[in-house]
Amino acid sequence: MADKPGRFDHWGVGLIHTFPNEGSARGKVVIQPGDIIILPYCRYVVDPIHLDIEDGHVVSIEGGLDATLMREWLKDGEEFEGDRDPYALSHLGWGLNPQCRWDSIALFGDAPERSRAASRCFPGNFLFSTGPNSQGGGKRTTRGHYDVPMRDCTIEIDGQIVVKDGNLTDPRMIVPRERR
Ligand SMILES: [Fe+2]
Repeated sequence: MADKPGRFDHWGVGLIHTFPNEGSARGKVVIQPGDIIILPYCRYVVDPIHLDIEDGHVVSIEGGLDATLMREWLKDGEEFEGDRDPYALSHLGWGLNPQCRWDSIALFGDAPERSRAASRCFPGNFLFSTGPNSQGGGKRTTRGHYDVPMRDCTIEIDGQIVVKDGNLTDPRMIVPRERR
């Protein structure tokens, strides 16, 4: 939801994100055991996935079972031969919500309606994703959509570290968890 066209605001969930400029993302991503494939599987990763990213797209997915799951899902999202949309980088950001728990799937099970918000928004996770960007003002509407909250990452923006080894650095972003 948003009050202006061309963007969406994740109000109330506790998630900051943005979309990379088209074609600009590049580098390597290693998804580690304990990171979560919250979309589509609601599953903890069990073995590392090595991704190479060039010109805004994932160009290589290597590893074991989790790499195979990712390759197959994104391949299944292709709508025509050579469709690269499922491999495009989508929203990137980090979680802030102290009531969201990394271990929510272990505690409460993997029902999507229960775990998806909690697992995307736990404080200090780096939320990596591929696929559609229509909610960020772009034109991609692909079904090949992967969302991966990652632990223990460091996030730097314009020379400023905002998350260090999975921990929020600015006290203004840190809210104590309410224990019930
Ligand atoms: Fe997503």
